[in-house]
Amino acid sequence: MKILAINGSPRGDKSNTQIILKAFLKGAIAAGAEAEVILLSEKEIHPCKGCWACWTKTPGKCIQKDDMDDILPKVWASDLLIFASPLYVDCVSAQMKTFMDRMLPGLLPNFVKINDVWRHPLRYGSPPKVGVVCNSGFPHLEHFQVVHHLFKRVVLNMHTEIVMEIYRAGGEILRAKNLLLKPLIMRYKKLLEKAGKEVVREGTLSEKLKAQLEADIVSPENYIKNANAYWDKQLAKLNPSLQKK
Ligand SMILES: Cc1cc2nc3c(=O)[nH]c(=O)nc-3n(C[C@H](O)[C@H](O)[C@H](O)COP(=O)(O)O)c2cc1C
Repeated sequence: MKILAINGSPRGDKSNTQIILKAFLKGAIAAGAEAEVILLSEKEIHPCKGCWACWTKTPGKCIQKDDMDDILPKVWASDLLIFASPLYVDCVSAQMKTFMDRMLPGLLPNFVKINDVWRHPLRYGSPPKVGVVCNSGFPHLEHFQVVHHLFKRVVLNMHTEIVMEIYRAGGEILRAKNLLLKPLIMRYKKLLEKAGKEVVREGTLSEKLKAQLEADIVSPENYIKNANAYWDKQLAKLNPSLQKK
């Protein structure tokens, strides 16, 4: 299985998204997959101009010359395409949305109805299956409602299906240095490795493992208490008059 993971975090290699991807892909590679991660933060990808040239004058090619030229062939050659993004304004990051818009050359212009859904036909053979990885600042799963729905629509447009969704609420905990949290974070990473293996071997992530991956690492109350203490400290450093007596 060829896995292509697109990391849409502006923090790139230092992102929580990358922490999740690394552990997941470690398991996937151990189970025999080939994997590549593309950090959008390191790529030059301009927004779609909406000119339709990729459907008309230059079929299958964008008129803009940038890093999408190298990435797009890899997308359509992959067996599993993982969209991995931090949650930004309840959706994917701008970098990820720009990337998704620029996948347009992979479709043909005509409107067709397949299984009662209007869509554009695919330009190239069989599409990759899709995986979704998303982590949020808030420690509650409800924040992923829009992303979950977004990718349900995206796979219809791509004529494919979602085989895994990994949502990590309160993702900032993954970078915590607190020694008491280390074993909990390690346990979570081990579950991610197991998920990588499972997706390669079974072709999908089981509901059981998905639920284990979505379980709180610490209680939301504790997470919020610590987050507020962290931000108070950062602000007090900048303005000592805010220091709590
Ligand atoms: C511009 C911006 C918008 C954000 N919007 C949300 C949001 O709507 N909901 C949320 O829970 N977290 C939000 N966050 C927090 C990020 O999702 C969180 O910090 C995440 O762990 C970052 O992951 P990364 O390290 O992979 O980039 C936002 C962060 C930024 C910078």
